[in-house]
Amino acid sequence: MDSKELVIPSHIAIIMDGNGRWATERGQLRLFGHRAGVKAVQTIVEAARSLGVRHLTLYAFSTENWQRPASEVSGLMALLQNYLKSELQRMLRNEIRLHCLGDAEQLPKDVRVILEETMAKTAHCTGMNLNLALNYGSRAEILRAVQTLARACEEKSLHWADIEEAHFVRELYSAPQPDPDLLIRTGGECRLSNFLLWQLSYAELYFTEVKWPDFGRDELIEAIRAYNARQRRFGRTGEQVQAGGQA
Ligand code: IPE
Ligand code: IPE
Ligand code: MG
Repeated sequence: MDSKELVIPSHIAIIMDGNGRWATERGQLRLFGHRAGVKAVQTIVEAARSLGVRHLTLYAFSTENWQRPASEVSGLMALLQNYLKSELQRMLRNEIRLHCLGDAEQLPKDVRVILEETMAKTAHCTGMNLNLALNYGSRAEILRAVQTLARACEEKSLHWADIEEAHFVRELYSAPQPDPDLLIRTGGECRLSNFLLWQLSYAELYFTEVKWPDFGRDELIEAIRAYNARQRRFGRTGEQVQAGGQA
């Protein structure tokens, strides 16, 4: 199947893993891998945009990643800051709107400032939403939503028995964007590592041994090809889906 005939998932989420091992294999320090990882981000953002992906969510730094050596954490933050600085013009040219999933308050001030500036300057862009998950943890996101709803109940603006999925989803960092259709994890591990636990309920999962710095446009198309070979049943039977009974 030619890539032009593929159904492009509206929302792709990626756990960009394997930078450290990619560097170690080359006898280099881990930061060398993260630097190569930034290039892969640029390639994949551009590829996703040109393929017609509407929402791209990239897991860049987890709440657990603070436990890494301080030098690696500060190196990652510096790379992030430089990435955001260098990408603004390209984002504007390609009509890409930047969002942040996670608690940006705890990021270093320099990073927070450029992040907020980039989000504000791209707020009018409608070509593709680029969600960077930064200081993101799915359990923390869920707890935060629960706390907000609990407060609303305490303040009597909401009754506990009236809480619906829609109320909860509205409080997630990802609101109002739809759930991912396809989750890709590079680097060979088959786990979610606290990423979008609620939102991935019905995503198609794709794990590849390819380490993030080697993940390019062809690898993205390969993942989309695998997605096209899946049948999403959402609890129904295959026959019902084939008969067009998905609604
Ligand atoms: C992913 O690559 C990048 C971040 C978590 C920031 P890793 O740094 O986790 O690479 P490996 O898994 O150690 O190879
Ligand atoms: C997940 O990768 C987080 C990001 C890609 C940002 P990790 O490398 O931190 O995941 P674990 O520790 O192997 O589960
Ligand atoms: Mg890793």
